[in-house]
Amino acid sequence: MTEQKPVTEAQATAVPKVPTLPDAQTVTEVQHYTDRLFSFKCTRPATLRFRSGEFVMIGLMGDPDPKTGKQKPLLRAYSIASPSWDEELEFYSIKVQDGPLTSKLQHIKPGDEIILRPKPVGTLVHDALLPGKRIWFFATGTGFAPFASLLREPQTYEDYDEVIITHTCREAGELTYGRNIIDSLKDDELLNEVIGEGFWKKIKYYPTTTREESAKMGRITDLINSGEAYKDLGVEPLCPQNDRAMICGNLAFNLELKDMLEAAGLEEGANSKPAQYVVEKAFLD
Ligand SMILES: Cc1cc2nc3c(=O)[nH]c(=O)nc-3n(C[C@H](O)[C@H](O)[C@H](O)COP(=O)(O)OP(=O)(O)OC[C@H]3O[C@@H](n4cnc5c(N)ncnc54)[C@H](O)[C@@H]3O)c2cc1C
Ligand SMILES: NC(=O)c1ccc[n+]([C@@H]2O[C@H](COP(=O)([O-])OP(=O)(O)OC[C@H]3O[C@@H](n4cnc5c(N)ncnc54)[C@H](OP(=O)(O)O)[C@@H]3O)[C@@H](O)[C@H]2O)c1
Repeated sequence: MTEQKPVTEAQATAVPKVPTLPDAQTVTEVQHYTDRLFSFKCTRPATLRFRSGEFVMIGLMGDPDPKTGKQKPLLRAYSIASPSWDEELEFYSIKVQDGPLTSKLQHIKPGDEIILRPKPVGTLVHDALLPGKRIWFFATGTGFAPFASLLREPQTYEDYDEVIITHTCREAGELTYGRNIIDSLKDDELLNEVIGEGFWKKIKYYPTTTREESAKMGRITDLINSGEAYKDLGVEPLCPQNDRAMICGNLAFNLELKDMLEAAGLEEGANSKPAQYVVEKAFLD
């Protein structure tokens, strides 16, 4: 994306600020979706290189120690939701009301600073998968974040004929961030230019809810086991020859889906040994 974008008011006020935190980055945009979910963008360190799908440690300074008065950084793992080519970084976050980090992070505004340790890592990367025809991105809750990055990564469409993204949440409002990303893809200048107009026809989006009514209800695991998801999507069942998969959700979901993929004959891959699927926790339980 070489086109010059207009500088927003938030960016204009953010740029001249002198960083005061170690590894400080400046927040440029914040958007809230529900009382439990928000996303934000921040400046990207010029030296930061990462692969779409990786995560970094981000955070804020913790409260002063009551004895010494010293403050320590309070850091948590976060998937980078923006693609590797983007000028800014984007994150999609939970708000845990008594969570050490997110009880504070949920109040950030443009111009504020966050701490970002520039050491990206992770298994949800194309390098950890062998070539295939179709890629499945399986997400629950904030586990959508790494796929928000990979869905905007040209390699996803260069490597695969079909891209299926499933997102299971409790409530319909929790699908909004993901839906907005999917909707924005049609107009993505870089992808239209690099992959070609109509690239988005490769994408099949399958959002489901479990505790509030929506167009499709049920856990993706159950919908696959019953064959309903395959029927809805108009695809053949998972097979090791054609399918590759990335999983990012709560632990029980990850384990259940992992078992299902193994039963279908897919093997787990890693950066050091690419195979047919990869998995990462969306949060620690
Ligand atoms: C590899 C990895 C990548 C991650 N990427 C993201 C991300 O992109 N976005 C994000 O919001 N979180 C992500 N997390 C979780 C994140 O690291 C923190 O746990 C989260 O920000 C809450 O921090 P906290 O200090 O407020 O509460 P914590 O003390 O960390 O968590 C308190 C409790 O809140 C619940 N919880 C924590 N995170 C989530 C979540 N994401 N969704 C639902 N419940 C949760 C858990 O039950 C946890 O025990 C990731 C975790 C890992 C291990
Ligand atoms: N989402 C909320 O409104 C809400 C509100 C307050 C507190 N919390 C707390 O926040 C934490 C995380 O909640 P969350 O909603 O973000 O994430 P979550 O509990 O991981 O649920 C996200 C989605 O994953 C589904 N799921 C869970 N286990 C699965 C499995 N084994 N296989 C397939 N699908 C599975 C859930 O379906 P099911 O609904 O069938 O479990 C839900 O649709 C929980 O501790 C929760 O108690 C959540």
